[in-house]
Amino acid sequence: MYRTHNCGELRSSDIGSEVTLSGWVATNRDLGGMTFIDLRDRYGITQLTCNMESNAELCEQARGLGREYVIQVQGVVRERSSKNAQRATGDIEIELSSLSVLNASETPPFTIEDETDGGDEIRMRYRYLDLRRSPVQSQIIFRSRVAQALRKHLSSQDFVEIETPFLIRSTPEGARDFVVPSRLNPGQFYALPQSPQTFKQLLMVSGFDKYFQIVKCFRDEDLRADRQPEFTQLDCEMSFVTQEQVLQTFEGLVRSVWKDILEVDLPAFPRMSYDDAMSQYGIDKPDIRFDMKIKDLTDLSQGHGFPVFDSAECVLGIAAPGYADKMSNKDLKKLTEWVQRPQIGAKGLVYVKLSDDGTIKSSVGKFYTEDQLRGWADHMGAVKGDLLLILCGEEEKTQKQLGQLRLEMGDRLGLRDESIFAPLWVVDFPLLEWDEESNRFHAMHHPFTSPKQEDQARMLTGDHETMKALRADAYDMVINGVEIGGGSIRIHDRKLQERNFELLGFTDEEAKDQFGFLMGAFEYGAPPHGGIALGFDRLCAIMQGQNSIRDFIAFPKNNQGRDVMIDAPSPLDQEQLTELNLDVTAESESI
Ligand code: AMO
Repeated sequence: MYRTHNCGELRSSDIGSEVTLSGWVATNRDLGGMTFIDLRDRYGITQLTCNMESNAELCEQARGLGREYVIQVQGVVRERSSKNAQRATGDIEIELSSLSVLNASETPPFTIEDETDGGDEIRMRYRYLDLRRSPVQSQIIFRSRVAQALRKHLSSQDFVEIETPFLIRSTPEGARDFVVPSRLNPGQFYALPQSPQTFKQLLMVSGFDKYFQIVKCFRDEDLRADRQPEFTQLDCEMSFVTQEQVLQTFEGLVRSVWKDILEVDLPAFPRMSYDDAMSQYGIDKPDIRFDMKIKDLTDLSQGHGFPVFDSAECVLGIAAPGYADKMSNKDLKKLTEWVQRPQIGAKGLVYVKLSDDGTIKSSVGKFYTEDQLRGWADHMGAVKGDLLLILCGEEEKTQKQLGQLRLEMGDRLGLRDESIFAPLWVVDFPLLEWDEESNRFHAMHHPFTSPKQEDQARMLTGDHETMKALRADAYDMVINGVEIGGGSIRIHDRKLQERNFELLGFTDEEAKDQFGFLMGAFEYGAPPHGGIALGFDRLCAIMQGQNSIRDFIAFPKNNQGRDVMIDAPSPLDQEQLTELNLDVTAESESI
């Protein structure tokens, strides 16, 4: 038997017991004739001791152990003279009677401790060692617990867990596909699923009624802290449900998981329309942990001789509470440069400082009287001490710019507290989004999303402007400004689906070619259905108050989409290329 106990298990009540432990040598210290070893496994750390006087040979052996050696030890549990309150096993130690090395180890390239000296790159290269560190391990274990809780809850509600294929045709979720060449079908390719969207709809046609799956999805898109090229969704679909029932079901799921795992009672999720989210928060995933809503100053600010405002479509502002006297002129200049960065794209920034001493100062002070500026402050609900930050321009763009500035100010003011959870549903999304560049409509969610019942007749006959105004039965779950999930009620009527494809610029041929199987299935009694997918990595990260999902993925990719541990992607050898009928023309870039 390799062990009678794990390294996190022994307590004072075990004192006097003979035990066998196995694990990794975390530290090995030699202090005046006594050798102390910290033995680690995933459950914790137990201190081992060996006394030179009573057992010189064993002590010599213990001294020779390097970091990360895998050892097995026998000994007796003793009370520690100097206890360690930080450690669950800190009241005891094991006085060794024997020791054997199960495997030696090279000196690891970084210390395997909570705070390591290894940089990101080296830790990713040796991810299997990084994963030995307790804080990293605990995130992965946390993820496993969340998965179990989700499964338990959904199974208790009669959801069936069904796997769907990975080697499929392209699914239109808005990103590029990863493709896989087919050896048996020369010149043809599978696409890896961006989501199981079409399959879960087919499962509804098959009558499964309530489906879920914790499933890998693959999207070739620009990576960010909360985006990986392969990520995991909790994917769900239900038949014979309204939007209201879907929202209730998944709000219930998320609340039960928060309660189960974090012992936190989430508040009821407020609902906000897409239009309100954009006009009040400048983003479709508002962080409602803090207020600082966008206010419209167009009417109050135009017609007073300030040409920039006068010629703008709109003038919008936010009031940063208590920030007036915190910003020097230099700070304001820097903030102006910040909004002018290409990522934000504002032309300039106007401020009004409502200083604590009652004075009022503004970068546009020469165009407006103090009373007028106070009028703006009143309109925005701002008080003494607040700083008004104002942008102008085209409405949608200005909303988005101010939305980003709002989040930046929220960060600066410490208003985005990770221990607070502020969930909400964003609803009533537009069905279609007009893209000026390509001069065509895109699906705001995806092409299978249903227009609202009251918009369906207009969708079949209306003009361009009517199409722009169509609303969808689509919804996003947002927590702390992160899009945790998105879904919709689906079109289950062939005519409506064909019309949607037409609006999205598919010819009949293209629609038939790409989605003939789904349209065909709709001919055989498709029930009304709808669903949602939650980003499982994001869900875990947000529960732990983190922005980056990488720590919750055992083997994540870096920002270039590379796995530096296994060195992927990598070129194929000629034999494999020939077998796959592939000819590589571009030189692979040296890394
Ligand atoms: P959607 O595209 O909104 O919907 O995706 C659902 C959720 O998946 C997460 N997500 C990601 N997480 C990490 N890395 C990524 N690259 C990434 N992309 C998306 C987000 C997002 O809210 N088939 C539909 C769902 C449906 O309609 O039922 C879909 O995939 O948290």
